[in-house]
Amino acid sequence: MTHLYRNKMIYKAIVIVIAFLIAAFSIYYTNQLVKELQNSELRQIDLFAKAQKAIVSPDSHDGLSFLLTEIIETNRTIPVILTDELGTPIAYRNIQVPSHLSKEEKDAFLRKELTSMHDKPAIEVNLGDGWKQYIHYTDSLVLKKLRYYPYIQLSVITIFGILTYLIFSSVRRAEQNRIWVGLAKETAHQLGTPISSLMAWVEVLKSEETLDKSIIEEITKDIQRLQTITSRFSSIGSEPMLSVCNLIEITEKAIEYLRSRISQKVSISLEKPSQPIMVALNASLYEWVIENLCKNAVDAMNGIGKIQISICPNFSRSIAEICVTDTGKGIPSSKFKTIFKAGYTTKKRGWGLGLTLAKRIIEEYHRGKIYVKQSELNAGTTFCIELPLDIHDN
Ligand SMILES: Nc1ncnc2c1ncn2[C@@H]1O[C@H](COP(=O)(O)OP(=O)(O)OP(=O)(O)O)[C@@H](O)[C@H]1O
Ligand SMILES: [Mg+2]
Repeated sequence: MTHLYRNKMIYKAIVIVIAFLIAAFSIYYTNQLVKELQNSELRQIDLFAKAQKAIVSPDSHDGLSFLLTEIIETNRTIPVILTDELGTPIAYRNIQVPSHLSKEEKDAFLRKELTSMHDKPAIEVNLGDGWKQYIHYTDSLVLKKLRYYPYIQLSVITIFGILTYLIFSSVRRAEQNRIWVGLAKETAHQLGTPISSLMAWVEVLKSEETLDKSIIEEITKDIQRLQTITSRFSSIGSEPMLSVCNLIEITEKAIEYLRSRISQKVSISLEKPSQPIMVALNASLYEWVIENLCKNAVDAMNGIGKIQISICPNFSRSIAEICVTDTGKGIPSSKFKTIFKAGYTTKKRGWGLGLTLAKRIIEEYHRGKIYVKQSELNAGTTFCIELPLDIHDN
């Protein structure tokens, strides 16, 4: 079982467990709320029965005592403060008053609580002879819980959903990565054997006196090319080795190779400083990038036009800039980022892989940047690569 596959199974199990926990907690909490509501309803019914009894029974006319002892005392959920006309607290219920407070402090505490109850109108209790009391109250804890519960539940589910999506999309990306890295490695591996055998055959041919030497030279060049391709595939399939080299030299080599292989109607020129520019580079992968950019340029110009490559160091930013400019059909600015996505192509026979590969090589393996610097429709495009300079203080 691979590392990635095992991780995916673990993530799946975690997600299922968390989803189960959320659901279980939700059900448990809802049940608790229902129970609390049930209890409070039961008390109300009980109160109702007692009120009926109080009205019917001839010897229990003491409305005030009934109000205080039954309604206020039996209420176990709604925070209530009973005050006189001047707003002085007389009694309270369901309010957590710290026990260590003195009488004055307790009074001040209750008055403060009273101010938070002002959003609900107080209930006036007329005790006769113009004597009144007021019942101040606020939402019970159950009501508060019920009010916020759907929002909390929704937020938890949303956060959980987003996290799950992020985890699985990153696993997916890693999976795709593995597929094409594995494919590249396997290709390199399979090419190795026939190439070695071809090399041996060339040695045999060299000993043939009658054979034209130029043919052998051409075959040798083709074998070298095959070796380069193999080394590219094997480099992309693992963390490639970088070595400090002169960027100008490598770029010249790539251009030289391209010149002989693209349409004669496309000219390639190189603008460069006289000093070498040293960067840490995997030469065969970098050449691949230049080739991809130039091939795209040739396609964009329909085989006729100019490609200008310029290399210049930017010491203040410690980078080398390589710009590839063509005189092709241009790219709309809305597509500057899209063109680097795998599978995006406007060509009949394109795979939409060239720029994805270039981006991976430059950004992941060389810690550089590649982007469209500017483009004008039907006039041309400039791609720019930035690579960190290798600067050593002597
Ligand atoms: N220099 C350019 N000028 C205009 N459009 C370009 C240029 N370079 C790339 N593009 C656009 O970006 C798209 C993606 O390029 P990319 O190299 O990734 O794939 P492709 O060339 O279509 O196919 P592949 O390289 O896999 O054979 C191209 O199809 C083209 O539309
Ligand atoms: Mg391409």
